[in-house]
This record gives sequence, C-alpha cells and structure tokens, in this order.
Amino acid sequence: MDDLAARLRALPSLTGTAPVHGLDALPQDPVALFVRWLDQAVAAGVPEPHAMTLATVDADGVPDARTLLLKGVDARGWAFAGPVSSRKGSQLRARPAAALAFWWPGVLRAVRVRGVVVEASRHESGADLAARSAAARADVPRGDWQLWRVVAARVEFWQGSADRRHIRIVYEPVDGTWRHTVL
Ligand SMILES: Cc1cc2nc3c(=O)[nH]c(=O)nc-3n(C[C@H](O)[C@H](O)[C@H](O)COP(=O)(O)O)c2cc1C
Repeated sequence: MDDLAARLRALPSLTGTAPVHGLDALPQDPVALFVRWLDQAVAAGVPEPHAMTLATVDADGVPDARTLLLKGVDARGWAFAGPVSSRKGSQLRARPAAALAFWWPGVLRAVRVRGVVVEASRHESGADLAARSAAARADVPRGDWQLWRVVAARVEFWQGSADRRHIRIVYEPVDGTWRHTVL
C-alpha cells in the first residue's frame, strides 16, 4: 500500500536561500520591513508573492481561511478586497478581526499579521474594483465590492535557515510606537 506519510516526509522543504543582509538594520516599523522583504521576494523570483492566506472566524468562533491577493500596505494596514456577500464578508461583519499569512519559498521567509479589520471607504473600494480587469468586474453586483484593512496588532517575520536555526522577529505596538523582539 502507498505510504503517504513516508512520501510526505520525503518531500523537500526549506530548499531556498535566505537573502544576504536580510536582518541588517531592522526598521522601527513593520510596514517598512514587510515592503523590504516583499521586494526581495519579487527580486528572487518567488511566484505570486502577493498571494496570502486570510483567516477569519465566523459568528460561532469557527475559523475559516482562504487565499487572497494583497492590495496594498501602509500605515493604515494590510489591504485586501472581495465581495461583501462572500463568506469572508459575513464573517468580517460578525467578527471584524483577521490574520494573514505569507509564505515565500525560495527565500525561506514567512510573515504573519493579525489584528482588527476595518472597512475602507466606498470610494476606495470602488477604485479597487475599477482597477480590476473587465472580466474580473463582470460578476460583481453593484455595491458588493469591499476593500478591507487588517490593522496590525502583531507582525511576525520568520526567516528560515537550512540548519534549522530559524529566526523570528516580532513587532508589537507599545505605548503608540512599534517595538520589535528577535526570538
Ligand atoms: C491566488 C488566489 C488569489 C485570490 N484572490 C482573491 C481576492 O483578491 N479576493 C477574493 O475575494 N478572492 C480571491 N481568491 C478566491 C478566494 O480564495 C476564495 O475562494 C473566495 O474569496 C471565496 O472565499 P470565502 O467563501 O471565504 O469568502 C483568490 C484565490 C487564489 C487561489
């Protein structure tokens, strides 16, 4: 019989290479480090580095997760978009909090973000929809497209290492400014 567990164990993981100077001069702000790491993932040819897992919880507290594209990152948070009428839309209405997870194989990096979720304005949501292709807009009922932002309360940067000496850098706000700790 096919031993799936053995086949899974035999699959390679952490096969990439960490960028040189990746941990130099950590910025004060996690957004700056995120953009640096995203740019390095793009430069290293990581496929679709803007794809991420969005985890939410429903009204009963049961988690859900799906893949989405990142729409932007700035001091307001990590932006994503989708239909209000979707499961994520209902879940975010009931429980406006979420977590994001990025995995960038090739550079051995992952990033986690969690926090409350805020709705962007109608204007911003409309602009995001307008920027989509005609085909991608075609199925969206009027007024159903929403841009949301995760307002980060914790951002964890994970730098893997082939020798398993992985490093985690955790950013959390303390008294209105970001503090980071290297674990
Ligand atoms: C690479 C990739 C990118 C995606 N990007 C989006 C996106 O930006 N917005 C979106 O609503 N769904 C996107 N999807 C589809 C979602 O994964 C999901 O199927 C859909 O949003 C419905 O999720 P829900 O039922 O939990 O609301 C994407 C899927 C993949 C695989």
